[in-house]
Amino acid sequence: MRKNVLLDQAHAILKELITKEDIIVDATMGNGHDTLFLSSIAKEVYAFDIQEQALLKTKEKVGHLSHVHLILDSFEHIFDHVTDYRGVIFNLGYLPQGDPSITTLHDVTIRTLNMILPRLKKEGFIQIVVYPGHPEGMIESTAIQTWLNTLNPHHYQITITSFHHQENLPPYLIMIYKTKDEG
Ligand SMILES: C[S@@+](CC[C@H](N)C(=O)[O-])C[C@H]1O[C@@H](n2cnc3c(N)ncnc32)[C@H](O)[C@@H]1O
Repeated sequence: MRKNVLLDQAHAILKELITKEDIIVDATMGNGHDTLFLSSIAKEVYAFDIQEQALLKTKEKVGHLSHVHLILDSFEHIFDHVTDYRGVIFNLGYLPQGDPSITTLHDVTIRTLNMILPRLKKEGFIQIVVYPGHPEGMIESTAIQTWLNTLNPHHYQITITSFHHQENLPPYLIMIYKTKDEG
């Protein structure tokens, strides 16, 4: 078993869901672990980050793959680059071994979730790994919980996977599945 059970579970869910027909967005490429994983199961991957360091790290892993598009831009500008996708994944927070002050911000994250949700097709999904164990992460976590409560349960099914009995506000995993088209 690997060190991070939660991220293993996140990947296991994606492996079950994604097919070689699917375009997937990795909103936060970071060190490229998720982008590399997605590249092995999806038709096309669009990966975003605001840090050049992240782009360079990820390029080392997937730079040779023509179906993977690395974009140095904030995920809030997603529609400047891609408009058709089956799913979007967010691994929030800051770059491990990077500058912890460059982190995802609750207002940008919520604004982006509100943008991408209406464009999800039936059977589309959003996966979010949330890190409440640092100050902005806690604010972001609270904002996401409030936002989740606004989603129509007749159109979206939501699951949350969390560690039991672990100290220091561990990360948790949210899956949002679109089960019915709106309107
Ligand atoms: C926890 S890391 C992602 C880990 C990554 N998925 C991996 O597999 O290594 C979070 C990343 O989000 C990036 N980030 C922060 N705000 C962002 C934004 N508005 N748009 C895109 N990326 C952002 C950070 O630069 C950081 O690299």
